[in-house]
Amino acid sequence: MTDSIDLAEIPTMTDKFAALLVTETSDNSFEQNVVNKSISDLPANDVLIRVEYSSLNFKDALSATGNRGVTKSFPHTPGIDAAGLVEEDSSGTFKKGDSVIVTGYDLGMNTSGGLAQYIRVPADWVIACPQQLSARESMIYGTAGLTAVLCVNKLLMAGAKPEDGDVAVSGATGGVGTMAIAMLAKLGFKVAAITGKLEANETLTGLGASKVIDRASLDDLAAKPMAKPQWAHAVDTLGGDYLFTLVKSLQYGGSVAACGLASAPNFKANVYPFIIRNVNLLGVDSVELPIEEKRKVWNQLADNFKPDQLGSMAEEITLEQTPQYLNQIINGHALGRYLVKL
Ligand SMILES: NC(=O)c1ccc[n+]([C@@H]2O[C@H](COP(=O)([O-])OP(=O)(O)OC[C@H]3O[C@@H](n4cnc5c(N)ncnc54)[C@H](OP(=O)(O)O)[C@@H]3O)[C@@H](O)[C@H]2O)c1
Repeated sequence: MTDSIDLAEIPTMTDKFAALLVTETSDNSFEQNVVNKSISDLPANDVLIRVEYSSLNFKDALSATGNRGVTKSFPHTPGIDAAGLVEEDSSGTFKKGDSVIVTGYDLGMNTSGGLAQYIRVPADWVIACPQQLSARESMIYGTAGLTAVLCVNKLLMAGAKPEDGDVAVSGATGGVGTMAIAMLAKLGFKVAAITGKLEANETLTGLGASKVIDRASLDDLAAKPMAKPQWAHAVDTLGGDYLFTLVKSLQYGGSVAACGLASAPNFKANVYPFIIRNVNLLGVDSVELPIEEKRKVWNQLADNFKPDQLGSMAEEITLEQTPQYLNQIINGHALGRYLVKL
């Protein structure tokens, strides 16, 4: 794949490593190939990290297919998640061999990302991997797990309790969806998994969902100003009309944590659910979350939010396999988490 780098030595600027590279072709389409890059190709930031694991997220699929809202210029190496070992840190914050995690900020958007054996990033993007978490586990979570815990925290802060009733999770078979189901179930909530893949019923109940609901059953409600109360609370990863359908189907005083747009960014809404049912629509962002907050959330992920089945909650793939899996994600065929071993 690439000339190997002596791991005992700090890599030199000319050393080569393997990376996914997305390039724009002459017909304005985008192709993805594994190539050799040099350390000198990486941006001039503080911390050089040898990536052990990365993961695939919806945003990586957007970047890999040329979405300019995510990545402005190509060629580019995507990968918004990375966990690995520090090689060197010019800021003096980390020492060689420290096990670290980087998620979000500009990683994989316009900064060369984690779908590569090396990244170089600013020190204030880097978190020491909590002791109770391996690099592998941290990337099984990745941004999806971080986002799921942020959604759950938002619901808890709004007063959600297991005795309130069912919590709906949309995009249930996706990365954020599977993580949110497992975490909510671990905290004692009853979870209604909303999915377009009814064949994944067993997987979803295995994660802790107590009901699996056909996403298509929500479609009829899209045009109605209000809907019958069905959920105590919800985690929405889809956006679009699904988001407001969840909002107007909440029980009195319920909350929806909105983190995604897998269906669409826009939705039509009215104020009835807010002023008649006293419901809350709560925004969630994992990308620009201040590093101190991110550190706290990674500690929760290492501790009381950690699902018992975490180790088996991802399919492990190689860098060479990433193009085919990114294609599945962009077409809505993702099933759970994809862990990339570098
Ligand atoms: N706010 C943040 O910080 C943050 C962080 C991470 C992710 N996100 C966003 O959250 C969303 C989910 O991310 P992810 O990584 O979990 O994605 P993912 O693994 O690709 O899962 C998305 C899931 O949504 C459903 N879906 C996909 N396309 C759809 C469509 N066109 N219409 C309806 N349903 C569709 C599918 O689930 P079913 O077949 O089970 O319905 C799919 O498995 C994305 O929009 C992502 O950008 C936001």
